[in-house]
Amino acid sequence: MKEQIENIRREIEETLSARTDMTGKELYALKMEYLGKTGKISALSKGMRDVAPEDRPAVGKLVGEVRQWAEKRFAALEEEIGRRELSAKIASEKIDVTMPAKFRETGSVHPVTLVRRELIDIFSGMGFDVFEGPEIEKDYYNFQALNIPADHPARDMQDTFFITEDFLLRSQTSSGQIRVMENKKPPIKVLSPGRVYRSDSDATHSPMFHQMEGLVVDKGITLNDLKGMLDEFARRMFTGETKVRLRPSYFPFTEPSVEVDLSCSACGGKGCRICKGTGWIEVLGAGVVNRRVLENCGIDPDVYTGFAFGMGLERIAMIKYGIGDIRLLFEGDVRFLKQFKD
Ligand code: DAH
Repeated sequence: MKEQIENIRREIEETLSARTDMTGKELYALKMEYLGKTGKISALSKGMRDVAPEDRPAVGKLVGEVRQWAEKRFAALEEEIGRRELSAKIASEKIDVTMPAKFRETGSVHPVTLVRRELIDIFSGMGFDVFEGPEIEKDYYNFQALNIPADHPARDMQDTFFITEDFLLRSQTSSGQIRVMENKKPPIKVLSPGRVYRSDSDATHSPMFHQMEGLVVDKGITLNDLKGMLDEFARRMFTGETKVRLRPSYFPFTEPSVEVDLSCSACGGKGCRICKGTGWIEVLGAGVVNRRVLENCGIDPDVYTGFAFGMGLERIAMIKYGIGDIRLLFEGDVRFLKQFKD
């Protein structure tokens, strides 16, 4: 028995001195091998049963000693390894605050989207609903019902992409007016945003761009209502001082028709590079809905009247943000796009 005890002591000592790089886990496993419930030292205590009664006190003392010795030996090592592992952990998690920070790019909203959202916000505040019509449209909705029959010279105002004789890529969101009036009787107050297409491309024209159409139909609607609404729109979209000017114009679907100018918000109307020295910037077309258009939709023009307006969102964005070339809005250059924040 005495020999057995000495062997265990030696065994522990040899293992520990051979393996100085043990991890805390390995040390624990080794400790259990000796001091665990079924460990070798615990087995010694159980073996006491077989020791002659007269030898038991002496052997018992030896077993107690080796247990105490082993416990101390393991405890000391545990502390040492614990300390070593902790400092390794601290070293590996050390943060160098002088390193450049990791940068997470966040996206930004496209300026045309910003303008569309703002317009919808302004007009829905005035009670407008939103209707979105199809981009592939019938000639009927894009032209005929809007009082532009085949061969009408007004067709040349827009260089249209035809798909077949009857179908085209809509050249104006005005087509939405017809779709709305066909399905809803007055009072109507609707906004119709969307993409439109024209065979046109230069610094201020793009073959695909966005428009926002507005339509109000009810009893007793006049050009005055249009003017009042535009005043409010201009103040909210640009500045509180922005003024609205109507100039006579021609659109087949409105009578009278007007072109709407806003006083230049860059120079306050004095004249600058942006307004080409005139103090005014043309932003949209509008007018009183032509009787023929109401009739085409089954609305009695002797009972109801209305006004309509249509504007280009890219144009509004260019004016609002001082963008000189429309192509910047379509190139997707992040350096340009990230300048616009909600
Ligand atoms: N659709 C016209 C265009 O694209 C803009 C327009 C003018 C819309 C007058 C209207 C309007 O609703 O009344 O040039």
